[in-house]
Amino acid sequence: MSNKIKITTTPPKGMKPIDVCRACAKLCRPYMKQKFMGPIYYANFMGILDEKCVLFALEKNEIVGFLQWKRYKRDKELLLLNKLAVRTDYLKNGIGTKLMNQFLEKYTENKLIHLGVSKDNSVAISFYEKFGFRKSQSPKNDKVLEMIKLSPKFERFYDL
Ligand SMILES: CC(C)(COP(=O)(O)OP(=O)(O)OC[C@H]1O[C@@H](n2cnc3c(N)ncnc32)[C@H](O)[C@@H]1OP(=O)(O)O)[C@@H](O)C(=O)NCCC(=O)NCCS
Repeated sequence: MSNKIKITTTPPKGMKPIDVCRACAKLCRPYMKQKFMGPIYYANFMGILDEKCVLFALEKNEIVGFLQWKRYKRDKELLLLNKLAVRTDYLKNGIGTKLMNQFLEKYTENKLIHLGVSKDNSVAISFYEKFGFRKSQSPKNDKVLEMIKLSPKFERFYDL
């Protein structure tokens, strides 16, 4: 299945930005714990196309996964891996791997990547560990695990 999947920064042809955001929100919905999915939930996805920091996994013209990150204006060397999800009926087909590989290869050179993942999300934690993310400390929230990945540049810095 994953052979037919295209990883691209370009959203599906003919889809309006608002519909792209909505499609990504819907894709994440089964994974969310809270039952109420009102405007606040959807608003959380409105910025998904900002700065073009998003990769889509497309089958034909449909979004079956996406990975979105954020840059910081002040800390140019820091990236937040903000959202990553694969549609439930496409899990375990290597799509998450394809998204992550392309993200790491093309967009993260000399960057320090960080992310927050729910401590009980063992699937995502083992997924991130597979790609070299390490558990870090999260002083703010005891439910969220902070994970980081250092580029070789930062690895050298910390070895000093
Ligand atoms: C995490 C996620 C993106 C992985 O996507 P995926 O396309 O299913 O992952 P892949 O098929 O590329 O699997 C890559 C590796 O992840 C790990 N993995 C994936 N699914 C797993 C599962 N159900 N149980 C244990 N490990 C799993 C394995 O190490 C796997 O490698 P392997 O196939 O060699 O065993 C997907 O599970 C997902 O969308 N989860 C819900 C959303 C989420 O939790 N996002 C992260 C929030 S921070």
